[in-house]
Amino acid sequence: MVKKTASENIDEDEITIDIDEPEMTIEDLPGVGPATAEKLREAGFEELLAIAVMSPMELAEQAELGEAVSSKIIQAAKKLANIGGFISGNALLDRRKTVQKLTSGTSAMDELLGGGFETQSICEVFGEFGSGKTQIGHQLAVNTILPISQGGLNGEVFYIDTEDTFRPERIAQMAEAVGMDPQDALDRIHVARAYNSAHQMLLVDEIKRMAKSIDVKLVIVDSLTSHFRAEYVGRGMLASRQQKLNKHLKELKQLSDVQNALILVTNQVMSNPAALWGDPTKAIGGHIVGHASTFRLYLRKSKGGRRIARLIDSPNLPEGEAVFTVTAEGLKD
Ligand code: GTP
Ligand code: MG
Repeated sequence: MVKKTASENIDEDEITIDIDEPEMTIEDLPGVGPATAEKLREAGFEELLAIAVMSPMELAEQAELGEAVSSKIIQAAKKLANIGGFISGNALLDRRKTVQKLTSGTSAMDELLGGGFETQSICEVFGEFGSGKTQIGHQLAVNTILPISQGGLNGEVFYIDTEDTFRPERIAQMAEAVGMDPQDALDRIHVARAYNSAHQMLLVDEIKRMAKSIDVKLVIVDSLTSHFRAEYVGRGMLASRQQKLNKHLKELKQLSDVQNALILVTNQVMSNPAALWGDPTKAIGGHIVGHASTFRLYLRKSKGGRRIARLIDSPNLPEGEAVFTVTAEGLKD
């Protein structure tokens, strides 16, 4: 059974928005406070790209800034505007080498993912209610705290809870099962309840701020889409909803790159009347969410409490399935 909403019969992929539209503003540049931003604007620098292509001397002169400051601002603008240009395959390989893998606690799912959930990526877990999305979130929260030698990331967790389904008791149970002190585990998992989609997006900024002093390795948004879906109802709202979701996902992706962290987002499915064969359900959010996620896991309930996770559209792994169960101790093969 699939939960029904008013927007059920709208094809989300009918709406196209420009996914590559620049979202960053000069205020996003590190080291640029309100005063500097004001100077830049007064000198006519509204866009990152305009700054990125300047020389430090030119920018210093035109915006009345020091040359050293200008140089830093230009470097940062180049990064944010993403015009660093080409990098070699080897440089890319070096960057890939810093990717870490987080265990799911089950060998089947780890294998499906080529060794575990990858940092520097967004993983979308979608499926109907009760399929185990929130349980995976809880399990990964606990596993992230584990030392690297045990398949963990030895880091901390931010959990954005939109449906009020985070349960510290569940964390305590799962922590004990892996030999961790439940209180230590709960100390390293930071939870915020998001009251609406705007608040949900603000919480990402808050994580960015807190990441300066906390080694964040996992950010969970459970659920990514529920507020957006409830707030932007009907065809007329679809474009703005997709726009906002896209911005939210971009900010999350940036966080995952900067922190070398994993982003786990959960998503529900809706019935897809257009499907002539196969599974008549599809993930909410259409291709905006699908494209933003590096890994997509589709969860289904199966016989005897078993659950099936199917890997969909991975950049470098074959499609496949893993079977797992949810027990009091957490996810098991
Ligand atoms: P929605 O958020 O409603 O869309 O569902 P979800 O996909 O997040 O489902 P969730 O992860 O909450 O899965 C709930 C299911 O996990 C329950 O129906 C139980 O089968 C199982 N579960 C949750 N907690 C426990 C537990 O403590 N012990 C056991 N054995 N199973 C549990
Ligand atoms: Mg849930």
